[in-house]
Amino acid sequence: MTRKTVRIAMNGVTGRMGYRQHLVRSILALREQGGLDLGDGTVLWPEPVLVGRREHALRELADRHGLDQANVSTDVDAVLADDSIDIFFDAAMTSTREDLLKKAIAAGKHIYTEKPSATSLDGALELARLANAAGIKHGVVQDKIFLPGLLKLKRLIDGGFFGRILSVRGEFGYWVFEGDWQEAQRPSWNYRAEDGGGIVVDMFPHWEYVLHELFGRVKSVTALAATHIPQRWDEQSKPYDATADDAAYGIFELESGAIAQINSSWAVRVNRDELVEFQVDGTEGSAVAGLRNCRAQHRSATPKPVWNPDIPVTESFREQWQEVPDNGEFDNGFKVQWELFLRHVALDEPYHWDLLAGARGVQLAELGLKSSAEGRRYDVPELTL
Ligand SMILES: NC(=O)c1ccc[n+]([C@@H]2O[C@H](COP(=O)([O-])OP(=O)(O)OC[C@H]3O[C@@H](n4cnc5c(N)ncnc54)[C@H](O)[C@@H]3O)[C@@H](O)[C@H]2O)c1
Repeated sequence: MTRKTVRIAMNGVTGRMGYRQHLVRSILALREQGGLDLGDGTVLWPEPVLVGRREHALRELADRHGLDQANVSTDVDAVLADDSIDIFFDAAMTSTREDLLKKAIAAGKHIYTEKPSATSLDGALELARLANAAGIKHGVVQDKIFLPGLLKLKRLIDGGFFGRILSVRGEFGYWVFEGDWQEAQRPSWNYRAEDGGGIVVDMFPHWEYVLHELFGRVKSVTALAATHIPQRWDEQSKPYDATADDAAYGIFELESGAIAQINSSWAVRVNRDELVEFQVDGTEGSAVAGLRNCRAQHRSATPKPVWNPDIPVTESFREQWQEVPDNGEFDNGFKVQWELFLRHVALDEPYHWDLLAGARGVQLAELGLKSSAEGRRYDVPELTL
């Protein structure tokens, strides 16, 4: 086996996503398994270069994980000018992304980025055009479709379990503490529109690719966004005005004719089995998929409830569903997508979760916010470059 090193500049690696999912669970996990076997006698060895603003935090991370202190930098421009860097990855806060990615494309680096790829559709499309013109490889994180629950749901769809799919109902959310008497479990910029925050901008990009990949392209959107909690407390325990939406109630018409309705909220208490769940109803069967699990009910096993509020419920509806088996092992979704992207870079294997796919997510968020502001339904035009 020959070992080929791929040097990846990882920006925003001290953040929630950058650290846990991308550095630890993806890149370091790949190193722990001996690198990525390309199947042609080569093993790709990812070498992370930690990039950020706070040198001591980056150095501490490098120490904690036994990484070379020479691979730490607070100077993005110097990193981009370094010819040994192959890939620029960004998981820093959303509002700084577009400019950074433009610089990285101009420097000829391959790009891998967290979503949303930009804060406006124009910006997202420009990035895709620039990247294509530069001939670099590019990818946008679309992790949810690599989750075990959704993979099992996809298996049901591919196996024809549902018959004609009629509707999809998604419920996402949990209570995010305001930050006064209990520390908030999400960063405060998420709740300030001026810093790129808001649940529509955050979650609609996910809903776009989940719906698109599993059920078909989104044809129209109707959304109502709300800021239920107008004041929160930041990381320094200072009160601030929450200017961004913290809940969104969306209806998405799909090209297949199915209707999807997804509630997203950081102001809801969980009475579900998982933090996100999608119920899919079809003529032949239904299923409820979460992050890890998926339960199904076939037409032949569907009970016949009769509406009668005068008597107590006579059956346990939840128990009438059947667990969909794993039938295999599932790896971390972020890592699976990293592996596919690295194969795309190293072997030129096909990869469609690119900046154009990322732009579709930004488009849905932008139209969702417009729909909410204007109280009307918006068509979602197909994007081309
Ligand atoms: N794929 C997913 O499921 C998922 C989930 C959550 C967040 N995200 C995305 O990941 C990105 C990061 O989100 P997070 O929740 O990890 O945020 P975070 O606040 O925890 O981390 C942000 C990172 O950016 C850095 N940063 C903050 N301000 C900066 C500035 N002005 N300039 C440069 N760097 C700065 C921070 O030091 C930190 O390393 C966002 O774009 C978000 O949309 C994706």
